[in-house]
Amino acid sequence: MTQEPADGRVARRRRSREPLGAAAGGRVEYPRMGYLPGRHPRKLSRGTKAPLPAAVLSQAVYNSEFGHLFRSDCLQVLPLVRAASIDTVFADPPFNLGKDYGKRIDDRRSESDYIDWCKAWLSHCVRVLRPGGSLFVYNLPKWNILLGAFLAQEQMEFRHWISIEMSACLPIPGRLHPSHYGLLYFTKGKPTTFRRIRTPIAKCRHCGGEIKDYGGHRAAMNPKGVTLKDVWSDIPPVRHWKFKSKSRRANALSTKILERVIEMSTVPGDVVLDPFGGSGTTFVVCERKRRYWIGVEIGSCAQIVERLTTGSIEFHSNEDYVED
Ligand SMILES: C[S@@+](CC[C@H](N)C(=O)[O-])C[C@H]1O[C@@H](n2cnc3c(N)ncnc32)[C@H](O)[C@@H]1O
Repeated sequence: MTQEPADGRVARRRRSREPLGAAAGGRVEYPRMGYLPGRHPRKLSRGTKAPLPAAVLSQAVYNSEFGHLFRSDCLQVLPLVRAASIDTVFADPPFNLGKDYGKRIDDRRSESDYIDWCKAWLSHCVRVLRPGGSLFVYNLPKWNILLGAFLAQEQMEFRHWISIEMSACLPIPGRLHPSHYGLLYFTKGKPTTFRRIRTPIAKCRHCGGEIKDYGGHRAAMNPKGVTLKDVWSDIPPVRHWKFKSKSRRANALSTKILERVIEMSTVPGDVVLDPFGGSGTTFVVCERKRRYWIGVEIGSCAQIVERLTTGSIEFHSNEDYVED
């Protein structure tokens, strides 16, 4: 694991000589992730065992009241996470499109190597989930179809293939114009938490009038909105600088995706794990929503820390209504 100053300046880096696994001693009671006082007493009885031993926590490059960030290969950290200790995993790995993510990442693997690599970290994600926990995997349909089949073999329960519509995808000669990413949603058995999200009744951008007549049943509809669909066409692209770190302009998902995932599958005080931190979207949303989090990023974590400490990144507007 690479040590990096928590203030985000990467002036002096010290590499730990000790392999991470060797540092992980006996399991200890976790000082922070015990429980969160609040309106969800069900969670208070879930026990206070830590997802990570204290010796591992001491190697985090950043700690907050809610989370711990590790600069490492996720395949080094995931084996150290205690089984059945995480409520939701969200994973947005590199898509094997030959992008340059730095020296430590091969984003141009053969198809079979890429799938084997995904299976390696996915197996850990399944292991660390509590029974009833949720797993989300954001990827190209080409990969998610294979990863979904693998998760079904691992006895995970399929919930949804969520299509996230993206208008910015380029056409490919000889194919249909790709216009969505896939978000796999599986649970480890029956979900412990599934909170219904409602989205506002669609209105015309120009006249403000409602677009659909709902087959004459409009009056009977819930005023809080319609149940969230498995096609998300309302996710804004992350283009403008104010939604990104100034020093990392790519690889940031919209906060709206993470808000939905986290609201749908967790309650305050739950623990979320993201093995591919990127710009830290998952972690800033967790902080705001009072979920505990564990994050891993193999590249520089300076941008994530900047985002977490300065609060300089804006959230996309989100009018979802979450039912309790
Ligand atoms: C697509 S980006 C994630 C973006 C993130 N969801 C966000 O919204 O900010 C994937 C990230 O995974 C990181 N990564 C790639 N291989 C990794 C590995 N083996 N372990 C940990 N992180 C890795 C890359 O450096 C990159 O930042």
